[in-house]
Amino acid sequence: MSKQKTTFSCTNCTYQTIKWIGCCPECKEWNSFTEITVGPLGTKKQTTRENIRLVQLNTVQTKERERLKSGIKEWDRVVGGGIMPSSLIILTGDPGIGKSTLLLQICNELAKEYMVYYFSTEESLGQVKQRAQRLQCTHDKLLFSDQSNLESIIQTAQEHKPDILIIDSIQNCYLADTQAIPGSIGQLRESAFHLMRLAKEHDISIIISGHITKEGTMAGPKTLEHMVDAVFYLQGEDRWQTRVLRSVKNRFGTINELGFFQMDEHGLQEVPNINQQLIAEISYSPGSVLVSFIEGSRPILLELQALTIESKLAIPQRVVSGVDHKQVVLIAAILQKYLHIKLSVHDIFFKVSGGFKIKSSCADLGIALALLSSYFQQPLPEKSIALGEISLTGQIKPINQIGMHIHEAEKFGIEQIFVAKNQQIERANSTVKRFTNVYELLKLFEAGQ
Ligand code: TYD
Ligand code: MG
Repeated sequence: MSKQKTTFSCTNCTYQTIKWIGCCPECKEWNSFTEITVGPLGTKKQTTRENIRLVQLNTVQTKERERLKSGIKEWDRVVGGGIMPSSLIILTGDPGIGKSTLLLQICNELAKEYMVYYFSTEESLGQVKQRAQRLQCTHDKLLFSDQSNLESIIQTAQEHKPDILIIDSIQNCYLADTQAIPGSIGQLRESAFHLMRLAKEHDISIIISGHITKEGTMAGPKTLEHMVDAVFYLQGEDRWQTRVLRSVKNRFGTINELGFFQMDEHGLQEVPNINQQLIAEISYSPGSVLVSFIEGSRPILLELQALTIESKLAIPQRVVSGVDHKQVVLIAAILQKYLHIKLSVHDIFFKVSGGFKIKSSCADLGIALALLSSYFQQPLPEKSIALGEISLTGQIKPINQIGMHIHEAEKFGIEQIFVAKNQQIERANSTVKRFTNVYELLKLFEAGQ
């Protein structure tokens, strides 16, 4: 007769082993293994089996689903033009960044048209009320609960079928009917699985919030990202109290879309024209260059700042933030090779204003001009922008979507554009200066040489 077998399962991450061990090799949790009994291999289990019907796709009926728009444009755009019905979304970010504030504000708008249930699992109803009053988010169709038992939440949602369900936060929910311990990765995964089924089977859009640690790796939202339809990060930029909402995964929209908000005493206010704020900061002093790069669907105008100074060290410093360190080192090498300037004995400090990160080679020309401008102590002309790539042979190359960059830059008063010789431009009201190779860039700094 076949015997039952015992095995050991990690209550944190559900990793299984045949012998008890102290530390889980998967999640590194200590003393997390408990004994579980499983049926022997090959034994027939009584399982319910559903009949599967295979169909051709052209026989499948689809209906155009209208997205759920909040009217808060920065949110609606980032989520892909409104929340997709029946989708499971995760909103994540550092604790205190403003996730609950944003969710409350969005829900208050959505409640004007849709049935919204808000489960606050971290804060008491009294605390939520205080915040809601401060934010003037007291729409009477927006309903709250502080229940954090997920089975009860799901049951309530199945019975009442709200259009939108908020769980703020998922880390504070618990499943009573499971072996995994509350707050563990195992429970989080199981919770996400149940919520996904709820969203799809009952046509409910669900947003769950979750916080990450400073390292962004802690057991939690990161491990759920592959299970949900969309993932949005709310990130902070300390200098202006700016909050950036970024889509990092979206089954129903573009990724890397950015939305900008500013936190004040009345909550998060939309910043529809972030470029206006960014461009107002540009100094056009030696080492400063304006560039543009596309994030999601729109161009962002940013100032690059370079400082080159003769080094006292045997190995000169290269301190770079906001762009890839290698990109700056490479362009410095190209300039040294073709222009015979001694950047290799200079310390180079490089940064991008506003705490942004540029991952695009369309900033190459701007990086070269910033380095040269600092090296020659010569500023570039005011109201100018650099838009071009640089090849290893020192040629200036055209970039894609130039029309979008130019249109945005001109909207904010740019009058001079530096581009590659063979860059096709359909329309520009500014003066266009064209360059074939890095050697020609020296013309811009003749006065200082
Ligand atoms: P919160 O939304 O609770 O953050 P999270 O849910 O991501 O943990 O935001 C908390 C911070 O926001 C808190 O430090 C206070 C600040 N805040 C304001 O500055 N103005 C406001 O109107 C609100 C509601 C919060
Ligand atoms: Mg919160």
